[in-house]
Amino acid sequence: MKMNKLKLLVFVVLGSLQLANAQKAPQLGKASVDEVIQAMTPEEKVELLVGPGMPGYAGLVPLEGEPDVRVLGQAGGNEEVKRLGIPKTVFADGPAGLRIQPKRQNNPNTYYATAFPVGTALASSWNTDLIEEVGKAMGEEVKEYGVDVLLAPALNIHRNPLNGRNFEYYSEDPLVSGKIASAYIKGIQSHDVGTSVKHFAANNQETNRLSVNAHISERAMREIYLRGFEIAIKEANPWTVMTAYNKIDGTYASANEDLLIKVLRNEWGYKGMVMTDWFGGYPGFAAINEKGSVSDVIAQMEAGNDLLMPGTKAQKEALLKAIKEGKVDVAAIDSNLRHILNYILKTPTVENYKYSDNPDLKAHAEVTRNAATEGMVLLKNKEKTLPYTNKSGTVALFGNTSYDFIAGGTGSGDVNEAYTVSLLEGLKNAGYSIDQDLEKTYVPFVKAATEKEMKRRAAEGLLTAVQRIPEMPLAKEMVTEKAVSSEVAVITIGRNAGEQHDRKINNDFYLGQDEIKMINTVSDAFHAEGKKVIVILNIGGVIETASWKDKVDAVLLAWQPGQEGGNSVADVISGVKNPSGKLTMTFPIDYNNEPSAANFPGVPANDPKEVFYKEGIYVGYRYFNTFNVKPSYEFGFGESYTKFEYSDIAFSNNNFRDEIKVSVKVTNTGNVAGKEVVQVYVSAPSKMLDKPSEELRAFGKTKLLQPGKSQKLTFTLKAKDLASFVDAKSAWIAEKGTYTVKIGASSLDIKTAKNFNLANDITVEKVNNTFDLDVDMETLKN
Ligand code: BGC
Repeated sequence: MKMNKLKLLVFVVLGSLQLANAQKAPQLGKASVDEVIQAMTPEEKVELLVGPGMPGYAGLVPLEGEPDVRVLGQAGGNEEVKRLGIPKTVFADGPAGLRIQPKRQNNPNTYYATAFPVGTALASSWNTDLIEEVGKAMGEEVKEYGVDVLLAPALNIHRNPLNGRNFEYYSEDPLVSGKIASAYIKGIQSHDVGTSVKHFAANNQETNRLSVNAHISERAMREIYLRGFEIAIKEANPWTVMTAYNKIDGTYASANEDLLIKVLRNEWGYKGMVMTDWFGGYPGFAAINEKGSVSDVIAQMEAGNDLLMPGTKAQKEALLKAIKEGKVDVAAIDSNLRHILNYILKTPTVENYKYSDNPDLKAHAEVTRNAATEGMVLLKNKEKTLPYTNKSGTVALFGNTSYDFIAGGTGSGDVNEAYTVSLLEGLKNAGYSIDQDLEKTYVPFVKAATEKEMKRRAAEGLLTAVQRIPEMPLAKEMVTEKAVSSEVAVITIGRNAGEQHDRKINNDFYLGQDEIKMINTVSDAFHAEGKKVIVILNIGGVIETASWKDKVDAVLLAWQPGQEGGNSVADVISGVKNPSGKLTMTFPIDYNNEPSAANFPGVPANDPKEVFYKEGIYVGYRYFNTFNVKPSYEFGFGESYTKFEYSDIAFSNNNFRDEIKVSVKVTNTGNVAGKEVVQVYVSAPSKMLDKPSEELRAFGKTKLLQPGKSQKLTFTLKAKDLASFVDAKSAWIAEKGTYTVKIGASSLDIKTAKNFNLANDITVEKVNNTFDLDVDMETLKN
């Protein structure tokens, strides 16, 4: 009895001691962030600064089967510190929708997400209101599946058409990239969940992406590779930024003070959280498992890379040692912790939000179906081949991809959607009859080949290179028969790519022999019967078109249009929707016309360690237009089922002071309703500095204009829109002289132009001297 009383007493004392201790520890959300940081032990700091690791990492598979994660298939999240009330939060990819595992063990529910059009497809709509709507739909899925941050948008510049991840990105132009990203962020974050703009910055290739050293001039960094991020960060304030893998002028992006402190924090005033890309700062994925191998955690911390993702044991040990031995700047550590904690405080997790696991997938299917049609680009439409409204005869459907449409790319940019509507299904849904013999031969052929390819990919893991399924051989006699029995031929050309691998020049950028043969055979046979051939491009990036486009009657660039793809294409083919997308990049005649062709993906060719951005600022149309290189389809190009006239260009004033307003009237002069993308280019004086012949400085899209109807669009040009970066002065300067505003339907199809004058040079912004080249490199000059 006595003994029991004693025990009880001990328990009570111990218990109240523990309680007192717990009460003493400040709790996140109750105490101030600084009090929480002050209460942290070095071990706890490290727990928060370095992510919890990536279980099942061995082959870089997602977290499937991990019992410990809240959302199966999440890409990661921060570690918790229970004592201080700091919870784990959840990050998931990005960017074509939410990438999580659709099924969980011993659980009958499904967790499919909507596969929206890929980044390039969205951007090609040039419609920021539409992108914001897409963002809202995506954001609802993020929130309702219990995720705090979507690892998107991705807005690296299309420096070269072979980049395997261009499909995730928006454009060769920073203004388009920045504006589209802003709209996307605003849409998602309207649900009080976060985004992560990535990959900051200059992650323009996949070959040796973790280690390649990109030599880039400061001017090209500022005008081309950073500008889109600058716009997105200033206009939309993403909760987080993800640093790129690559080095910039000798320093890893994740350890780059110029990038993260001087530019991002000090110049742009960014207050959010910065995290690495997964294992950023390691020279390669293989190195992560090597004993003793660790990224330079001190440099990463001191450069303001707040959080190392997904985190490794070695990084934790190295950082703990550095903190304990006073080898890392305490102020930097505390500032990083502050960013992380302030981020956590905003999350639904901290709010204890009760997510439903039941987002409105049905409504979002409509959103993606519609968004995809707006991003489709009509490249060619001879004699009004499209819209094709004849539903009485049969359509002869060729090309493997017609029967197995590609919704989006691979790798972390993939989405686990419940279904993808093929072109076959989409055309049938729209009431077209499809040739049955072709369907009967194609369907099993494609099914068997796809299963084989999917098995291979599953065995090789998330980051394996995609292999295109060779086209089913077509006997000439069979095609001739079909040309007699069908009314029209539709051929789909498909491409897929993704993380870790760049695309190839042959049999990828250029069509394969099998594809050329298919186009030739089908076109010859159908044209002999006086029937038309329509090509659908189900691709994620630029391909060669000049050598074959004359052989066919219409070319519709459908991109990788998301899970409703077949329906979306059918909406355009049938004329339910008038395509209004325009190219956000140049389609060159020849790969070697690309200004970066000789310097991609770097040297030595068999294992590139360095890449020289010798084209400088002359990326995409800035090069093609300035140096008069004729493209197959230029930046900004896209046809419509109707026609538009531009008139009444007017300025608010003829001499520039703080800004100038430019307006133009656009009239639909054709026979069907349509929308027009209006592009505002500016040619600037170039006495102080060489400049591109013109640069996109604003754009807009009309509402749906009925035939005969007009709309006046007004654009505001500010001093920064006239300025170029003058390296010698570390400043953005608008040079005095005459400026020409060119309003066009594309970068080469200028409809109307007008000059204004700037009386004196304006130094728009003085900035830090950054990004010194680590080698001697001449860049291209005009
Ligand atoms: C990709 C990122 C992605 C991350 C997490 C990396 O390999 O580069 O874009 O967000 O993995 O999945």
